[in-house]
This record gives sequence, C-alpha cells and structure tokens, in this order.
Amino acid sequence: MDTVVQLTGVSRSYRTGGRETVALDDVSLDVAAGEFVAVMGVTGSGKSTLLHCAAGLERPSAGTVRLVGRDLGRLGEAARTRLRRDSVGVVFQSYNLLSELTVAQNVLLPQRLGGPRARPLAEVLASVGLAGTEQRPVGELSGGQRQRVAVARALAADPAVVFADEPTGALDPTTGAQVVGLLRTAVDTRAVAVVLVTHDPRVAAASDRLVLLHAGALVSDGPTPDVAAIAEQLAAVSGAPQAASR
Ligand SMILES: Nc1ncnc2c1ncn2[C@@H]1O[C@H](COP(=O)(O)OP(=O)(O)OP(=O)(O)O)[C@@H](O)[C@H]1O
Ligand SMILES: [Mg+2]
Repeated sequence: MDTVVQLTGVSRSYRTGGRETVALDDVSLDVAAGEFVAVMGVTGSGKSTLLHCAAGLERPSAGTVRLVGRDLGRLGEAARTRLRRDSVGVVFQSYNLLSELTVAQNVLLPQRLGGPRARPLAEVLASVGLAGTEQRPVGELSGGQRQRVAVARALAADPAVVFADEPTGALDPTTGAQVVGLLRTAVDTRAVAVVLVTHDPRVAAASDRLVLLHAGALVSDGPTPDVAAIAEQLAAVSGAPQAASR
C-alpha cells in the first residue's frame, strides 16, 4: 500500500492570553493513494487543524507528519513549500481564488509560481464541467462554478493528495454533491488521495473511510457507512443527543 499521508502522534496546541488550547491531541493517521477519507466532528474538534498540519501549512507541537514519504519536520521552509506545491492540492470553503483573474489564470497559477507542469488546461476544465470557460473572470462565476475552478486548480498538476476543508460549505446540496463527485472521480480515476472535512453526512457518504474527531482526539476510524449511520456515529462521539428516530 502506497502511503501518501502519515501522521504519527500529532498534537497541536495554541497559547492565547495565557490559556492553552489543545486543538489536536496525539492523532495518528495513515492515508493511502486512492483513498478518500472524510473527517467529521463538532465545531472546534480540530478538523481544520488536522488538515493544516497534514498539508504542511502548520507545524505540529509534537509528532511527525510525512507527506509522500518525506518528514515535514526535517525540511526547511523552502523545501516544505516545494513539496506542498508539487504534491498537494487544497480546496477551501472560501474558494481562495483571485477574482480579477480568469479561470485559466487561476487554474494555472501554481504552475506560474514554479509548480509542476499541469495537465492540458482544456482537459482539466472539461473534467470539472467547465469546458470553454478559460477566459472568464472568476469574479463573474457562481459559487458552485468557483468551487469547480478551485478543484480544477487543486487537481491540475496531478497531486498525490488533495486536502479539502468544507469545500461544499457555501454551496447548495446539489452543487455540493457535484463538487464532491469531482473529488470522488479523481480518487477513482487518478488514484489521488483525498482528505475531506465536512459537517454534512451526505457529503461524507462519498468517502471510503470516516474519521471522527472529538476534542482534538481521533475517536473513530473505519469504513464509511451510509448517511443515516454517519449521522448516528457523529452524534454518538460528539455527545450530542441523536435526532429522534421513528
Ligand atoms: N490560530 C489559533 N489560535 C488559537 N486557537 C486556535 C487557533 N486555531 C484553532 N484554534 C482552536 O483549536 C481548536 C480546534 O480548531 P479547528 O479550527 O481545528 O476546529 P474545527 O474542527 O475545524 O472547527 P469548525 O468545524 O468550526 O471549522 C478550537 O478550540 C479553536 O478555537
Ligand atoms: Mg474548521
């Protein structure tokens, strides 16, 4: 099995105003190529912190993170940036696009910044349902279209892993399902690993494996069940009352 993300005993705490918050508490997690992992947990449970540490955007307070076999803690800032650029795609809730630039310019931005050669632009855009939109300014697109551009950018250079933090959070359910479908297709056809944070059991249902966090700790890790069972598992580990079932 080809492990592309490996967290071993990762903790992350923040010190603010003399108080310490443990955002991530001794989390170990291996993700293989071609695996689609959904991460869920109540607000503040550490999901974004986990993603940021795994993607090398934030340094853990303890533990090690390996990306495509390289220990991030042993790399200098420049080497980490290069590794991220070459092997990692990210998709955030807020799209993180430059709205004055065109679709083509946004998708090819990592390459312009020295990143690896992207797949042919027309092919990448067609794969996310945006054929022919190359020259449109991103500022003129709908939220769903923008998120497709962000997915296209994340996938353009064939990364080993894509980290997505609530990529459907700002979208209606139908559009959200389409965006998650794009990630699912990338997993199935290109063996990309995807680690996706979501609050929506319907979105998580597209994954192969469900990881639940509570108070910074990994409290459950197993095959993704159906939507109803996802909601039940989530409620159970979060200590929240379960929705009444009849
Ligand atoms: N930069 C920071 N400084 C201080 N505390 C932080 C910082 N980032 C996160 N935290 C704290 O760490 C904990 C985990 O935050 P995190 O953003 O990972 O949660 P989350 O599960 O992504 O929540 P949400 O579902 O609301 O996005 C929270 O208690 C949060 O307040
Ligand atoms: Mg978050």
